[in-house]
Amino acid sequence: MVGKEKHEREKEKMFVGVVWNCAAELKFLLTAVFFLCSLVTILQFLPSRFSISSVSDLPNCITTTTASEVVNTSASTVPPDVETVTPPPSTLSPPFVQKDQVLEGGIIKRSFNPYGSAAYNFILMSTYRGGLNNFAVIGLAAKPLHVFGKPIYECQWLSNSNNTQQPITTVGDKILPDWGYGRVYTVVVVHCTFSIPINEDNSGGKLLLQAITNGGFDLSSNLTDDIEALVEQPGSLNLAHFMSQPKYDYLYCGSSLYGNLSPQRMREWLAYHVRLFGEKSHFVIHDAGGIHSGVMEVLRPWMEKGYVTFQDIREQERFDGYYHNQFLIVNDCLHRYRYMAKWMFFFDVDEFIFVSKKSTIKSVLDSLSEYTQFTIEQIPMSNKLCLTEDAGKTYRKWGFEKLVYKDVKRGIRRDRKYAVQPRNVFATGVHMSQNTAGKTTHKTEGRIKYFHYHGTIAERREPCRQLINTTDFTLDGIPYVKDTTMRSVAGAVKRFEQKMIGSRLDRTRQ
Ligand SMILES: *[C@@H]1O[C@H](CO)[C@@H](O)[C@H](O)[C@H]1NC(C)=O
Ligand SMILES: *[C@@H]1O[C@H](CO)[C@@H](O)[C@H](O)[C@H]1NC(C)=O
Ligand SMILES: *[C@@H]1O[C@H](CO)[C@@H](O)[C@H](O)[C@H]1NC(C)=O
Ligand SMILES: *[C@@H]1O[C@H](CO)[C@@H](O)[C@H](O)[C@H]1NC(C)=O
Repeated sequence: MVGKEKHEREKEKMFVGVVWNCAAELKFLLTAVFFLCSLVTILQFLPSRFSISSVSDLPNCITTTTASEVVNTSASTVPPDVETVTPPPSTLSPPFVQKDQVLEGGIIKRSFNPYGSAAYNFILMSTYRGGLNNFAVIGLAAKPLHVFGKPIYECQWLSNSNNTQQPITTVGDKILPDWGYGRVYTVVVVHCTFSIPINEDNSGGKLLLQAITNGGFDLSSNLTDDIEALVEQPGSLNLAHFMSQPKYDYLYCGSSLYGNLSPQRMREWLAYHVRLFGEKSHFVIHDAGGIHSGVMEVLRPWMEKGYVTFQDIREQERFDGYYHNQFLIVNDCLHRYRYMAKWMFFFDVDEFIFVSKKSTIKSVLDSLSEYTQFTIEQIPMSNKLCLTEDAGKTYRKWGFEKLVYKDVKRGIRRDRKYAVQPRNVFATGVHMSQNTAGKTTHKTEGRIKYFHYHGTIAERREPCRQLINTTDFTLDGIPYVKDTTMRSVAGAVKRFEQKMIGSRLDRTRQ
């Protein structure tokens, strides 16, 4: 008891000691901070409005002076005529702490002191030119800012040309394409459309995006971040890109791949779809952690043949969005390849597009050419029911060859997937785009559909769990019917793969 008391008192003394010892340093630190902040205040008003500066807004002066940011953040609430050497107004956040005050009549005016900031105003992923006078900037933004506030985006073009005196400015048109699914961050696509052609003389220039919080983050401040969104080097603009025939007929934009993916299932998916879409097709694969070395081996032969582009997007994991930021990724893909593909497809790697044997993918898409967008019906397949006749050799059969039972439960709304003619699309989603010019149709039954083998792509074991030999079967209350549509093309797909890349994937594992 006594021992404990003593111990406590010692601790108390020690604490007092620490505080006392720190006081001198604290004073020094505060003086230094104050000096730095004053310096920042002065600096802030020196360079021109759009210069990229390492100084930042006052509330963050301590962190940003050391972090040397590239973006320009400034608090425009600070009146420009503020005396630069006087301490900044106490309405700013610490270290200029606001204190509670007693007002006349005994009213106690309480104070609120913000520290730090918890989400970025804008996280730039990419900017693409969308034509002569248009750009699309793709990124993430703090979701509460958009849900509860009204942030503004402004775009400015700074030309290298000596003839253009003034920067050209336009208000950015923002689209939030993720249907409210975002988490800390939501996806933003900003379209900057100028009234005149940009960089027509090809002298180069810069697109700056201003992300303005407009009071949505703190009513007393209107923060603007100046973001260098795109730099066009002199002579680099090739306008033919926007007018000529697209390089690819069909381009696949995959969404974020994660989890422990099966190399064999990926192998099957690629061989099947390269055969289906043909020579003028391309597949963009986005790795959010799912492409381990086994899957990479499967992609490599197709990358070497020019069918696959591999994008490592693991870094997006730092920013909490919807399912590995898949809405961000598909929008980047849309704009990146917008002028390179006639049709763009959005679906997953456990889904297989199918057109009836009487037609080809070309004849089907030609019949839909008047539409900017069409959606595709889903055929859900069992991920465990296989045929008795495959007993003992299931491991040698491909997934879509052995999983031959389709789920025919009625009255369930099933997801659809879709394709677009990207030149008429401004932003996109996972199941369809809501930002298009032109018509959308859902009446594609009988022309095109997709088989969905849910839960097979991240399964590293043999999927067949139950072998049956009937045409109908009910499992866990779900009625299944035998459907060998996909099984019947397996032979042709395997031969196609051998012809294209030889036998190098023959030893691929589940
Ligand atoms: C950019 O920073 C400078 C000082 O560093 C400041 O004068 C200017 O107002 C800032 N730009 C904007 C648009 O706030
Ligand atoms: C602008 O003028 C400077 C000097 O007058 C010259 O060196 C530069 O090449 C010019 N730039 C363009 C894009 O014409
Ligand atoms: C913030 O600044 C922008 C542009 O500078 C302006 O359009 C907007 O009205 C301002 N918002 C508020 C709340 O002051
Ligand atoms: C189907 O399987 C059952 C048992 O699994 C077996 O008794 C029956 O003979 C099989 N029928 C055919 C046509 O193979």
